[in-house]
Amino acid sequence: MATPGGARAWPDGNDRVIDLCTGTADLAMAALKARPTGAQQVVGIDFSAEMLRVGQRKVRAAALEGRVPLVRGDAVRLPLGSASADAVMIAFGIRNVVDPLEACREIQRVLRPGVDWRCSSLRCRQRP
Ligand SMILES: C[S@@+](CC[C@H](N)C(=O)[O-])C[C@H]1O[C@@H](n2cnc3c(N)ncnc32)[C@H](O)[C@@H]1O
Repeated sequence: MATPGGARAWPDGNDRVIDLCTGTADLAMAALKARPTGAQQVVGIDFSAEMLRVGQRKVRAAALEGRVPLVRGDAVRLPLGSASADAVMIAFGIRNVVDPLEACREIQRVLRPGVDWRCSSLRCRQRP
């Protein structure tokens, strides 16, 4: 998970957060619900049209359209401008990306300058 560095633990009201590999948008919606005064918008990105279709239904049912736009895109070629995001989340996703290093470069590119970030992930080693 990439988060703003320094003293801020979570984006403030005007911030734009990206939820990469959003799946059916559960984390994107939870992020908004957990902190109603937090991010202005959480953009969910996933390359699976089917996952996004299901996510779109959930977003509509939760009346979060506009605050949780879902966009089809690849984590290694994000459909976002450089320096356009205040925070990036990715849950149970980096392990599925074929080229995780390239995804990290993309995260770095879309984050605003000065945003510090970390990525941690659990991965099970295959048994020999
Ligand atoms: C295990 S799901 C996690 C979904 C969600 N983050 C969650 O925690 O519920 C992994 C998701 O990553 C997406 N994904 C995998 N590789 C991707 C890539 N290169 N670009 C965008 N999405 C990707 C898959 O389509 C899938 O929806």
